[in-house]
Formats: sequence, structure tokens, C-alpha cells
Amino acid sequence: MKLLRIISSIFTLLALITSWVLAAWSLGLTDYAAPELMIFLGRFHPLVLHLPIGFMVLALLLDLGHLLPARFREQVPKTTWLHGLIVLTATSAVVHGILLFASGGYEGSELAESHLIGGCLFLTFAGIIFLLKLWLTSEKTSRFIGAPLTLVSMLTLSISAHDGASLTHGEGYLSQYAPEALKPILEPGYEKPAPEPVVPETTFVDENVYEVAVQPIFDRVCIQCHKESKSKGKLRMDTYAELVKGGESGEAFEPHNVEKSYLIERMILPLDDDERMPPEGKTQHTDEELAILKWWIEIGAPSEGSLKSHNPPAELLTVIEGVEG
Ligand code: HEC
Repeated sequence: MKLLRIISSIFTLLALITSWVLAAWSLGLTDYAAPELMIFLGRFHPLVLHLPIGFMVLALLLDLGHLLPARFREQVPKTTWLHGLIVLTATSAVVHGILLFASGGYEGSELAESHLIGGCLFLTFAGIIFLLKLWLTSEKTSRFIGAPLTLVSMLTLSISAHDGASLTHGEGYLSQYAPEALKPILEPGYEKPAPEPVVPETTFVDENVYEVAVQPIFDRVCIQCHKESKSKGKLRMDTYAELVKGGESGEAFEPHNVEKSYLIERMILPLDDDERMPPEGKTQHTDEELAILKWWIEIGAPSEGSLKSHNPPAELLTVIEGVEG
């Protein structure tokens, strides 16, 4: 049996050395035209790689079984040659993987490079475990190193396999639908996306220019005396249609002409003037509200179109938004 152990060890060391040499070679390639046979063989990587994974899971379970009390443990088969099988199949997976990598298409892919190195690392771990299992004859040590070492190499395998899966299926394949709490673990560097700002479907700038900018001013300071039930000077200001009809003295405004607009004329009279609108003692308009009315008349006193479509000056916009909000 000793001869078998020696031969196995030599093969294991050779496998490790070969894989690292091949890895170094493939990582250094630029503009390499791979022979067709090599591309063909490389494509077996996804098939072969499942073998060491399966054996690894089995080995881990058995190695854990060896930690059980003696009477159970005796039922559990030894894992030494199973670890040898892992080395053999892992070598095959790594070699096929390197051939696939060297076939091209992965240049400059950090993910592919880290997957390649991860694969070699896993093979190295598997090799070390196998050698230890072969040569550590003491039952006790062999029993206790099995499970933890296999666990470590399983971890290397998982990380490397995850890189491989991300290469095939795209990054975020595993974490995309994972519960929020798991995402940072599955996808290092994952950041919770900021909640989408709640943008109202339409904002005030999309509303009708008259309704949003003009009528609210009349509503606040004029309407109590200029509405259907009480239309002083026969002037109603509760709707655009009524406003254009004008009052006793005729039209209340002239589009494009602030100077000739009667309602503005009355609004800018001194407070103590008898004709001042709104009359003294009543709620008065602000300078900004007056500016908005003037702007509206200047652009032709439109009743159609959104506020935005009439390009209101920025300083008026903030006032209108304030009135709205
Ligand atoms: C407290 C009541 C009151 C308020 C508020 C008021 N008005 Fe008057 N308004 C009157 C009265 C009364 C008349 C009729 C007598 C006159 O022409 O002075 C009148 C007449 C007018 C006329 C003349 C109508 C015409 O054809 O002769 C205009 C224009 C007018 N108001 C504009 C306004 C505007 C603009 C506002 C708001 C900024 C306003 N008023 C707020 C009481 C008011």
C-alpha cells in the first residue's frame, strides 16, 4: 500500500504544479489563437466541474461523521480515497477551465481571472487534504483535521463556483431575488437602492396657466365682491369666461397691454384712493401677485395651455408654487 500512496502523492503534486503553471500561462496570454481542439475540450468545463462538487459534499458529510462517538463512527467509511477522487476530478475541471479561459473571450475579465485562481486554490486545498489523509497515519489527527479542512476547501469552492456562475449567468444572478438581509452577503459591495423619489404624476407647472397662476389670486383678494351673487361694478372674476365679459366700464384687461388693463390700473392706485382695488381695509394683494397678473396680461392673458408651456420667469414660478403648496 505504501507504493500506492507514494504514486498518488507524486500525481497529486504534479497535478497542483501543472494547474498553477497552466494558470500562469493562460493569465499571461494576449491575442492567442486557440486551436479548435482546445476550444472543444474547454467546453467540457461546465460538465466536469460538477464531479468534484458532488464528491466534496459527500466527503464533508463523511468527515463530519468521523467526529461522532466511536460506535457510530465505525459505520462511516473512510474518506482518504474519496479525497483522492476529488483531486482527480478537480484537476480535470481546472484543466478544462483553463482551456476554456485560454480559448478567448475572457481577456480583462476580473471575474474570470478570480474564478480561475479560485479554482486552482480549491484544487490546492483538495491536494493538501488528500496528502494529509494519506500520510497522517494517526487515527486521531486524521479524524480531527478532516472536517475543518474540508469545510475550508468547501468555502473556497463556493466562492470560486459563485464567480463561475456570475460569469455564466451574469453578476447578481444569485442575489437579485434574495431576501434583502442576505443581499450584502451574497453580493459584496451591494448597496440598498435608494427609494425612488415619489414624484407626483403632474406638478403645478403642468396645470392650466390661468387656473394655477391667475384665478387663485382673484379668489384670495377679489372674488368676495366680484362673483355671481355679488358682482360689484358688474364685474365677475370667478371664472375666466366671466372675467373677459368685463364690467360696467367695459373690459377689465387688454391682452399684451398692462397699461391699458383697467383691473391693473385699479390695483396700483394708492391705498387711500376711493377707486383702489381691493378697497382699503380689505385683504390686499402682494407685489408678487401683482407681478404675476402683469406677466399674464403681457403674454396675452392666455386661458389655454399649461403654466410650463408659457415659460414663466423663475422668480414668479416660486411664488406660484408657494401659493399652490
Ligand atoms: C370689498 C369688495 C371688493 C373687493 C375685495 C374688490 N373689489 Fe373691485 N369693486 C368693488 C366695487 C364696490 C366696485 C364698483 C365700484 C367701483 O367701480 O369702484 C368694484 C369695481 C371694480 C372694477 C371696475 C369694474 C367696472 O367695469 O367698472 C374693477 C376692474 C375691479 N373692481 C377690480 C377688482 C380687483 C382686480 C380686485 C382684486 C384685486 C377687486 N376689484 C376687489 C369692490 C371690491
